[in-house]
Amino acid sequence: MELKIAVLAGDGIGPEITAQAIKVINAVCRRMGHDPYYREALVGAVAIDKTGDPYPEETHKICMESDAVLFGAIGDPRFDNDPNATVRPEKGLLSMRRKLGLYANIRPVMTFPSLLHKSPLRKDIVEGAEFVAIRELTGGIYFGRPQGRSEDGNTAYDTCVYHRYEIERICRLAFDFAMKRRKKLTMVDKANVLATSRLWRETMQSLAPSFPEVEVEYMFVDNAAMQIIQWPGRFDVLVTENMFGDILTDEASVITGSLGLLPSASIGMHTSVFEPIHGSYPQAAGRNIANPLATVLSAALMFEYAFNLGAEADLIRQVVDRSLAEGVVTEDIDPVKPESTSEVGDWLAARIEDVTT
Ligand code: IPM
Ligand code: MG
Repeated sequence: MELKIAVLAGDGIGPEITAQAIKVINAVCRRMGHDPYYREALVGAVAIDKTGDPYPEETHKICMESDAVLFGAIGDPRFDNDPNATVRPEKGLLSMRRKLGLYANIRPVMTFPSLLHKSPLRKDIVEGAEFVAIRELTGGIYFGRPQGRSEDGNTAYDTCVYHRYEIERICRLAFDFAMKRRKKLTMVDKANVLATSRLWRETMQSLAPSFPEVEVEYMFVDNAAMQIIQWPGRFDVLVTENMFGDILTDEASVITGSLGLLPSASIGMHTSVFEPIHGSYPQAAGRNIANPLATVLSAALMFEYAFNLGAEADLIRQVVDRSLAEGVVTEDIDPVKPESTSEVGDWLAARIEDVTT
């Protein structure tokens, strides 16, 4: 099969980690008889430096013409400390989400037995926790208008807007996930305060009868923040709006013990995007120390969701499990005897040849 992949490496450690994922994708393709075609494109601070635009039209075109996008990271401290910067790398990510219609961000949260000791939570709390967080990605306060400042500069406002159709499509997706899993769906909102949350609840309640096998529960976001820490194993599929999802998925990601391990998929109307959930980690950029596993696992999601090639995805997950079990890992996981980013990538690619399907 021909796989057309756009590679948007972006900023910071983005180029190093996507390079490792490409080694692994190539190894999988060699073994399973696929032909990958890569097209690189600019995004983030590097794109601002070269073109003035963090998501240039040319990049969008390449994404639209590809079957999947492998995304590294964006963000640069030069912009973070300048509140007056008019263009920001993050704007590139938001434009990409909007233009590709990526309304759903899917983040599987899983624990790795060999890493339980790295979790900030007690082993008995975190053991076996395994859920999927589905975050709405193109609506809510991130995109609502008006947004801005008053003329005197002393007042600022953001607007949270949701339309029923936006809620409905993401809730349907969440039901589909629940049907393929343990059939439990938690919707997180703030319906005791927010009008948008009440529309979310109403919409969810009107869909629920079409999925009688799925048990639906509603949870306020403050309570959810607490329960993710106290009892992560209780969740199966969690669905929520854009900003709550941003916050809760970072929280959920650390219970696994390393932010460097969790992949994500953003899917919607056009080409899907696969990216690690950690950021650009500027302190590590160019040092060959960053953990490539989240990006490699994002490539597994790419095989599964974009190409419908589940066996290929499993090959990748198997070699990642082995690297963790055998300690072929970067310094965030093993500060005593770490391998470099590229050594981990080479090792994984070589192991793809010998795992069993
Ligand atoms: C994420 C990030 C982005 C977001 C930032 C970089 C704009 O935190 O993908 O979760 O808030 O959505
Ligand atoms: Mg975030």
